[in-house]
Amino acid sequence: MIGCDTSNCGACTVLLDGRSVKSCAVLAVQADGREITTIEGLASDGELHPVQRAFHENHALQCGYCTPGMIMQAIDLLAENPDPTEDDVRLGLEGNLCRCTGYQNIVRAVRAAAGGASR
Ligand code: FES
Ligand code: FES
Repeated sequence: MIGCDTSNCGACTVLLDGRSVKSCAVLAVQADGREITTIEGLASDGELHPVQRAFHENHALQCGYCTPGMIMQAIDLLAENPDPTEDDVRLGLEGNLCRCTGYQNIVRAVRAAAGGASR
């Protein structure tokens, strides 16, 4: 997926060996032999990944263009920090741009996925 082609938007974010990367900034040779997870690889047996479900339940998307990258980045963020504050989430997602939502519901969704929505 091409979002910006300048490594600014984060729409192309995938997991490389479990860590988020902006795929537009990774050469194919750098990914050789490594495990890549895209948004298409998250659901299993027809069940959404918990972060996907949280985005759905918290209305964290409008056009959806940023959503795959946001979700992949959120997964990396939650792996590093399973109980993020709102500020932690905003900092963790600062490399992912959304032109639609104003971010509020995205932050809410990430915290809901972490079980921290009530704080
Ligand atoms: S396409 Fe925008 S960061 Fe990769
Ligand atoms: S939902 Fe449209 S860019 Fe984020």
